Amino acid sequence: MKPLESTNLFANSINKSFSTPGMDSSLEVLEDIWFHIMEGEFVSILGPSGCGKSTFLNILAGFEEPDSGHVACCGETVKAPSPQRAVVFQSPVLFPWLSVKNNVRYGLDLRKEGKKGTEDIASSYIKAVGLDGFEDYYPSQLSGGMQQRAAMARALVLRPKVLLMDEPFASLDAQTRYSMQQLLLRLWEEYRHTVVFITHDVEEALLMSDRICIMSKRPGKIIEELPVPFARPRPLSLTGSREFSMLKNHILERLMT
Ligand SMILES: Nc1ncnc2c1ncn2[C@@H]1O[C@H](COP(=O)(O)OP(=O)(O)OP(=O)(O)O)[C@@H](O)[C@H]1O
Ligand SMILES: [Mg+2]
Repeated sequence: MKPLESTNLFANSINKSFSTPGMDSSLEVLEDIWFHIMEGEFVSILGPSGCGKSTFLNILAGFEEPDSGHVACCGETVKAPSPQRAVVFQSPVLFPWLSVKNNVRYGLDLRKEGKKGTEDIASSYIKAVGLDGFEDYYPSQLSGGMQQRAAMARALVLRPKVLLMDEPFASLDAQTRYSMQQLLLRLWEEYRHTVVFITHDVEEALLMSDRICIMSKRPGKIIEELPVPFARPRPLSLTGSREFSMLKNHILERLMT
C-alpha cells in the first residue's frame, strides 16, 4: 500500500514477538499491522488489554524495533526516537528534582535555543495547559491532573509533528479526565498535531477522534477502522444519542470477539 502524499506517519506490515522470560519460546505480540495517519488527524486505538497497543506505540515512537515491516514519519524511516514524535504516557514522566518551568523547558535547553526565547516559549505552553502560577512548583507538589498537564506541556513545547499518547488520562478521576480531554482538543485545534491516542474508553475514543482503529486480542492486528461521523465540537450530550450508542455497542462487540 503506497501512503498518500499527506500521510504523516505510517506503519506497513509490522510484526513483533518478544522472547518469553525463562523459556525458549517467543510470544507473538503484533501480527501484520498496517496503519496510516494523515497530517493533523486524530486517531484512537482501542484493543483488549495485552493485545500489543503499547508495543505498537513504542514502535511508532522508535523506542522498539519491529521484527519486520516498515515505519516512516514525515517522509523518513523511523529508526530511533525523535523530537518530531512526542510521547505522553499514562503516568506523567517528569523529573522530580526540576520545577514545572524547568521540566517544560528541559528539551529546549538541550537544543540550546536562546535563553529569552526559551523562557517565553516555556511560559506560553505552561499557560496553554493552565499551569500559570505553578511554574516554580515541583512535581510532588502537584495533583495527578496537574502533573499530566505539565507532561503535556513538556511534550508540546518541542513542537512535535506527531503526538503519541498511551492512555494519558486513564489514572485520572472522571471530572479531571473530562477537563484534560477538553484541554487536549483545544491544543489539537490550535496546533494541529497528528495524534495517535491509545485508550480503553470507547466513549472517550468516540468523543475525541476522527477515526478509530480496533485491535484484536494478541497477537494484535487491526481488525476494523471506523471513521467517527460526529461533527465537532462534540458535547457530552452526544453520548445519549442513538447513533452514538449504536457505534459504542458495535465497538464493544468487536472488542470482545
Ligand atoms: N519487553 C517485553 N518483553 C517481553 N514481553 C513483553 C515486553 N513488552 C511487552 N511484552 C508483552 O507483550 C504483550 C503486549 O503488551 P503491551 O504492553 O503492548 O499490551 P497493551 O495492549 O498495551 O496492554 P494494556 O492495555 O494492558 O496496556 C504482553 O503480553 C506483554 O507481556
Ligand atoms: Mg498498554
